[in-house]
Amino acid sequence: MLLGTLLAYFILTVSHLAGAIPTTHDHVKIETRTIDEIYQDALKEEGVLRVAWGGDIKVSQKIIVDAFTRRFPDIPLDLGVGLSKYHSPLIDRYWENSNFTDDGADVAVLQTLHDFPRWKSEGRLLNYKVSSWDDIYPEFIDSDGAYTGLYIFTFGNIIYKENSVDLPIPQTFPEFIHPRFSSGQITSAYPNDDDAVLYLFSRIVQTHGWDFMHNFSKQNITWIRGTASPGMLIAQEAGPTISFATSSVFASGLTITTHKDVFMSWPQTGTIFKSTKMPETAKLFLSYLMHDEWQQGITSGGYATRKTYDRLGVFKQEPQMHPLGYVNFMSDRRVVEWWRFQFEEILGPPQGRDPNLMDW
Ligand SMILES: *[C@@H]1O[C@H](CO)[C@@H](O)[C@H](O)[C@H]1NC(C)=O
Ligand SMILES: *[C@@H]1O[C@H](CO)[C@@H](O)[C@H](O)[C@H]1NC(C)=O
Ligand SMILES: *[C@@H]1O[C@H](CO)[C@@H](O)[C@H](O)[C@H]1NC(C)=O
Repeated sequence: MLLGTLLAYFILTVSHLAGAIPTTHDHVKIETRTIDEIYQDALKEEGVLRVAWGGDIKVSQKIIVDAFTRRFPDIPLDLGVGLSKYHSPLIDRYWENSNFTDDGADVAVLQTLHDFPRWKSEGRLLNYKVSSWDDIYPEFIDSDGAYTGLYIFTFGNIIYKENSVDLPIPQTFPEFIHPRFSSGQITSAYPNDDDAVLYLFSRIVQTHGWDFMHNFSKQNITWIRGTASPGMLIAQEAGPTISFATSSVFASGLTITTHKDVFMSWPQTGTIFKSTKMPETAKLFLSYLMHDEWQQGITSGGYATRKTYDRLGVFKQEPQMHPLGYVNFMSDRRVVEWWRFQFEEILGPPQGRDPNLMDW
C-alpha cells in the first residue's frame, strides 16, 4: 500500500516535472524601479501577500511585519513564522493538493538551502533581481535570479551572561569540558533538530573528534529546541549562563564573543514562487529585505550578503568558517542524515515544544 502510494507519487511528480522544466531561461534584467515605484505597482494588485518565514521564535514575526507594514501600510501581509524544515514540506504539499497551481506562499525565506535549486529545477521559481543585485556576492545568488541570499546568519560564537560565568571565556570548544562548566551552566540547541546547528557540531567533531562530543554530552547540558531558545534561557535570572549554539539577537543583556575555534554561517535565502498572483508585491517584499533601510538594521552582526554591509568580511574567515560550507552540506541529504543520527544516538531525540510556541 505504502509502496504503491510512493510509486504513484513518484510517477506523478516526475511526469509533472518533465512538463514543467523550462526549455529556455528567462533572462531578467536587474530591477531599475525605486522601492517607492515598486510599491505603487504593488498597490495595483489585490490580495494578501503570503510569506513563509523560517524562524524559531515568534517575536521574529512582529519585527519584520511591523517594519514592512510601517513602510508600506497598504500592503496586507500574512507572514507565518515556522521552522524552515516544516515550511518546506507544507509548501510542497500545498503545491500537490492544488494540482500544481499554487505553492501556498508567494515568497519563502528559509534556511533549507537545498530546496531552492530543487524548486528551480521544477520550474516553480520566478526569476527576479533586486536593484542591489551587483552588490551581492555572486556566491550567494542564483545567476538567473531564481533565489537570493538575503543576509548572513551565524552560529558558533559564544554567548553568555556577564558576571555569571567563570572567566576566562573559552577560546576553543574543548575548554568547555571542565568542572567549572559541569553544573548546569551550558545550554545548547539540539544539533539533531536544526540543520545549521547540526553543521556547526559536524565541524566541531571534525576538528576535535567524537571524543569531544562524548565528553561534552556528560557536562550536564541543557539541550533545548529552537536556536533562539538557549539565548532566551541565558537571559533569564536563574539557569544556564553560556552557549555556543544559539542566536543572541532576540535576548537582551547578553554578551557575544568570538574565539579561536570553528563557527558556521549561511546565507538566509529568499525566493518568489512563479504561482504567485501578486508578483509585484512579492518583488516589493524581496526588494525591501535587500534595501539599505532593512539591511542596515539586520547586519549588525557584521556579515552580509551585500558587500556594502559586510563589515567583517564573510569570505575572510577561513579556515575558522567556510561561507559555502553549509550550502554544500545541505545539498547532500545523505550526509546531513548521517550526521543527524550520529548526534541523535548520543543525545536522544529532540525533546520539548515547538520553539515558536514557547512563551518568549
Ligand atoms: C490538474 O490539472 C491538469 C491540467 O494542468 C488537468 O488536466 C487535470 O484535470 C487537473 N486535475 C484535477 C484533479 O483537477
Ligand atoms: C545539572 O544542572 C542542573 C541545572 O540545569 C542542576 O540543577 C544540577 O544540580 C546539575 N547537576 C550536577 C551534577 O551538577
Ligand atoms: C575526553 O575525555 C577523556 C577521558 O577523560 C580524555 O582522555 C580526552 O582527552 C577527552 N577528549 C576531549 C577532546 O575532550
